Amino acid sequence: MRIKYGILVVFFLALVIIEKESNIISRVTDKLASRQTPQTPIQPGGLPSTARKHNASVASAFKLMKWRLENFNDYQAANGRKHILLLATTRTGSSFVGEFFNQQGDNMFYLYEPLWHVENMLTLAAGGTNATAVTNAYPEVLRQLFHCDFTLFESFINPLPIDHITPSLFRRKSSNSLCEEAVCSPLVKGVYERYHCRNRRCGPLNLTLASESCLHKEHRAIKSVRVHQLEILRPLMEDPRLDMKFIHLVRDPRAVLASRMVAFPAKYKNWKQWIMDSDVPLDKNEVKKLKNNCDTIRISAQAGLRRTAWLRGRYMLVRFEDIARFPMRKAGEMYKFAGIPFTPQVKAWILKNTQASKKTSGLYSTQKNSSEQVENWRFTLPFKIAQLVQEVCGPTLKLFGYKFVSTEEMLRDKSISLNEDKVFDFV
Ligand SMILES: *[C@@H]1O[C@H](CO)[C@@H](O)[C@H](O)[C@H]1NC(C)=O
Ligand SMILES: *[C@@H]1O[C@H](CO)[C@@H](O)[C@H](O)[C@H]1NC(C)=O
Ligand SMILES: *[C@@H]1O[C@H](CO)[C@@H](O)[C@H](O)[C@H]1NC(C)=O
Repeated sequence: MRIKYGILVVFFLALVIIEKESNIISRVTDKLASRQTPQTPIQPGGLPSTARKHNASVASAFKLMKWRLENFNDYQAANGRKHILLLATTRTGSSFVGEFFNQQGDNMFYLYEPLWHVENMLTLAAGGTNATAVTNAYPEVLRQLFHCDFTLFESFINPLPIDHITPSLFRRKSSNSLCEEAVCSPLVKGVYERYHCRNRRCGPLNLTLASESCLHKEHRAIKSVRVHQLEILRPLMEDPRLDMKFIHLVRDPRAVLASRMVAFPAKYKNWKQWIMDSDVPLDKNEVKKLKNNCDTIRISAQAGLRRTAWLRGRYMLVRFEDIARFPMRKAGEMYKFAGIPFTPQVKAWILKNTQASKKTSGLYSTQKNSSEQVENWRFTLPFKIAQLVQEVCGPTLKLFGYKFVSTEEMLRDKSISLNEDKVFDFV
């Protein structure tokens, strides 16, 4: 029943969006028309020649209008509000980098992995991953959450919240916004007697309160390791009330694999057997998965770096290795890109959390000596695996400026940096 309901809601919303989109387009066209005086032609010389040739036809008028829509930075009705989506894959340091925004202070509403619920529900519904359902649901859930609307999101929480109350929000405590005073309802005696927040005894989450608190914040940030194709996020860009900034976090695929092998040992049993004994064949599907992951990340990054029209000025690529080495500088760059103030609170948090001693760090911990930890994989990853990743993910390594190792000595020698100095131009 509940699953059907979720799917129905998605379908209904798809209809609403189609309807809404035509309104938005006409609104923006009106706005653009009123801006265009003969003395100030739009982007002189900037029009694609294809659009110039056919501008009599309806199709090209539509194209032209769309092109203008995509190229105006100031058409948004976002009123200075910024919407940041931190995109990554697992084991790339995204919890740590997410904290850069979580710690911003009272002005930021930060959500940690809301799509976890959507992925779970859709996987349950389809008995496996359903790419179509994902493509439909992810962008719309995110879009609504950026508007502080939890309606669609709520339909994916399992069990379904009752009166907008849920004790089951995934990693609620990773979001300061969901643990602050205003969102902390009292513990319910005998019902959900658990501490739901880090430093407060909060009862189950009241999503109405969360939404109200969100509406009061100036900026909004969401972190997700679940969106793999940047392309599906286009609907967010086309919402004129959102001033979207995509921050794409990547990490050396060799390091990611090394980290995954430690974090999910059961999943990598076959790899471990292969490491010990070359006669044990490595599962072809595993290699294929690795290749697909690398290719997907690379293709998304290429779309962003090539400044695909819809992403222009809204995409920033960051390597985790650079953040680990220069956390303050890179955080500053991210804040500058996002267009929001880099607060003393964030700076203090970064100082405190990038220089911690080994004792305080755990597997999912964000408290690490970052410049030390980021290279640890070089001592544990078998050379054989490094070679395999280089073979399978070569183009991805090249694009992000990760050097290939030709010998085990080179892999282990920390005086040799594996990161080329690379500037990813994002404006
Ligand atoms: C996948 O999702 C689409 C769209 O929601 C739906 O039409 C299709 O039936 C789903 N496929 C499976 C196998 O559930
Ligand atoms: C949740 O918060 C809303 C808004 O403040 C409030 O009206 C509602 O009564 C709360 N629900 C519960 C069960 O406390
Ligand atoms: C962190 O690790 C780096 C590299 O090994 C080292 O130079 C630095 O002193 C360490 N910082 C702290 C506070 O432990």
